Order: sequence, then structure tokens, then C-alpha cells
Amino acid sequence: MLDPLAKLGLKHPLIVAPMAGGPSSPELVIASSASGALGSIGAAYSGQAAITEFVEKVRAGTERPFAINLFIQHPQPRIEAAMVERALAATAKYRAELDLPTPQFVAPYEENFAQQFEAVLKAKPAVLSFVFGVLPAEHMRAARKAGMLIIGTATTPAEAEALEESGVDAITLQGFEAGGHRGIFDPGAPDSEIGLHDLLTQTLPRVKVPLIAAGGIMTAADIRSALTMGAGAVQMGTAFLATSEAGTSAPYRSALQGQERITRTTRAFSGRFARGIENRFMNEVDAAAVMPFPAQNKFTRDIRGASAAKGSADFLSLWAGTGKGELWQGSASDLIEKLFVN
Ligand SMILES: Cc1cc2nc3c(=O)[nH]c(=O)nc-3n(C[C@H](O)[C@H](O)[C@H](O)COP(=O)(O)O)c2cc1C
Repeated sequence: MLDPLAKLGLKHPLIVAPMAGGPSSPELVIASSASGALGSIGAAYSGQAAITEFVEKVRAGTERPFAINLFIQHPQPRIEAAMVERALAATAKYRAELDLPTPQFVAPYEENFAQQFEAVLKAKPAVLSFVFGVLPAEHMRAARKAGMLIIGTATTPAEAEALEESGVDAITLQGFEAGGHRGIFDPGAPDSEIGLHDLLTQTLPRVKVPLIAAGGIMTAADIRSALTMGAGAVQMGTAFLATSEAGTSAPYRSALQGQERITRTTRAFSGRFARGIENRFMNEVDAAAVMPFPAQNKFTRDIRGASAAKGSADFLSLWAGTGKGELWQGSASDLIEKLFVN
């Protein structure tokens, strides 16, 4: 078992992925941690008060360690009026279909990171994990002083080296197979599209900190294979999306059913590459009418919300990895037990 995680006293070398935007419910975090894995709060879209409230719920359900996960922020993109016009025109028919008014689209486009971080410092989770870059040095010092274990996310060996240089305790290596947002540091950069196997092989000789394998891991055999290759632990998201505790919406759950989910990466929903199940929005939206992250993410929120409320998966971000097979619909605890039975 990986050294820093060993300090946490986990029963299994498994992190149940942070899945911001609904799936990571308090119940899923509690069940994951209580079953001997590390549950993760996906706090990227939550403000200070919401983070505090979420943590209270988790602590009321388990005394076991858990992680809080944030998005590293970059300078806000400049959004020209013409860009908004184009995005509005490209989405007008969907808003009409969903009975939505034309939105008043103004900055800020994401939560206040300083306030989110303050909530994390106050909550003092065992682990702070993050994605999209390197934690600024002042935050790194503060998190370390508070005794948190710090885990960054890399999609290339070079990103892993930058994270190690910044002083993280462990690195989640996110292969191209992974569901959800690609952790690429530069929001405007092309995707290197490195699969987990190559990413692990190429990164292992280049960094000393423990590596956590993520992307397409669905079964006990997948876990054994990643650990045998040299990963210290695994992180799994998609496999937990249909568990009874997950906060996954009903239309999202329906779209996840079946053996052969067809997924690909898209910028249509948020402006950043993310992998999800193909649907109408992903297939129809003109790439030229997509604003940069996080502006596009805020811009499509009303559409995604109305789609879920209507019970339709047409306009939802159906984040899921390439992993195939029927998803477990029982409890997360039973799934964890099944994954680690010898
Ligand atoms: C619905 C969903 C939401 C996600 N949200 C986050 C997030 O908020 N923060 C994060 O670091 N990773 C997020 N991820 C990515 C996971 O951390 C992880 O890389 C991925 O789930 C691993 O691949 P898998 O889904 O094939 O198991 C998300 C993944 C999914 C499926």
C-alpha cells in the first residue's frame, strides 16, 4: 500500500472519485469511507457555506478519513459580447425547447477559490485533492500546516513532474479513459490523450511520489493490474455512478444502463475537455460557439438543470469513462467488498 495513504489507515487502496455536480452525495462519501476506501467530496461547484454543510453531514455519518476536492483556477477568460451572442444563438432552440428564458450572462463564472479554500482549511479533511493545475504555494503551505495530505492530478508525465516539484504527497494519474473533466492544466491546450497504461509506464520512472491510477478501472482485475504495474492505489468514478448512494439523477442513471456506453470527450458543456456519454447536446453544439472554461460551464447550467428536471438526458453532461459492462446498482459498500474479495 502506498505510504502517505497508509497513514490514513485505509482498508483498501481505493479512492472513490470526487464527482462534483451531484453524484458525490454525502451518502456516497460516507459509504465509501466507512467501507475502508477514501470517499471524496467534489466541492468544485460549492461555495464556502455549502462545503461546510457537506462536511458536517459526512462527519455525522462516519469518523473515517475523507478527501475534499477543488478545481485549481486560472485567470478568467475575457468573454467578448460577440462570443456570448454566438453562444446564445447556438443554444436558443434548446432553451426554447426547455421553456427557459434567455439568461443574463455575467461574470464571475465560478466559485471564489479563496473562500472555498478557507472552508477546506476550517474543515481539515485528511486529504485535499485537486485537479487542473498546481496548488498555489501559499495554499500548499497552509494545507500542509493543517496536516492535510495533498494529492494533485496529472494527465501527462510533465504535469506529474510539476506537481511533484510543487510538493504534493501523491499524484492521481488520469488516463484518457477517465470519465468527467480531463485534468489538463492549461484549459486551452490540446489533449495529449495518453491512456492510463502509457501514462503510468512513462511517469513511474520520472517521479518519486506515489501514483494513483485513474481511468477505466471497473473490476477487481483492473485494480490488480494497475497495482501490479506500480500504482500505489486506484481512483474510480464511473463504477460508482449507479450505486444506490450516488446522487446521480434519474435520466443520467438511465443513460448509464446497458453494457456498451459510447463515450467521447467534448468541450460543449463546460469549455474544458471532459468525457461523457454521447447525447444530443454533445453531438449538435457547434464547437465554434463554445466559450472557454469556466464561462461555458456557467452558460449551460440552466440548460443542464432544466434537462434533468424534465427527466431528459438530451442536454445533460453524462460524464462517464470508457469502462464497459453493467454498472453496480446496489450499495457502494457491497461494490467495494466485491472489488476486494480475494
Ligand atoms: C461524474 C463525474 C464527475 C467527476 N468530477 C470530478 C471532480 O469534481 N474532480 C475531480 O478531480 N475529478 C472528477 N472526475 C474524474 C475522476 O476523478 C476520475 O479521474 C475518473 O472518474 C476516473 O475514471 P473512471 O470514471 O473511468 O473511473 C469526475 C468523474 C465523473 C465520472
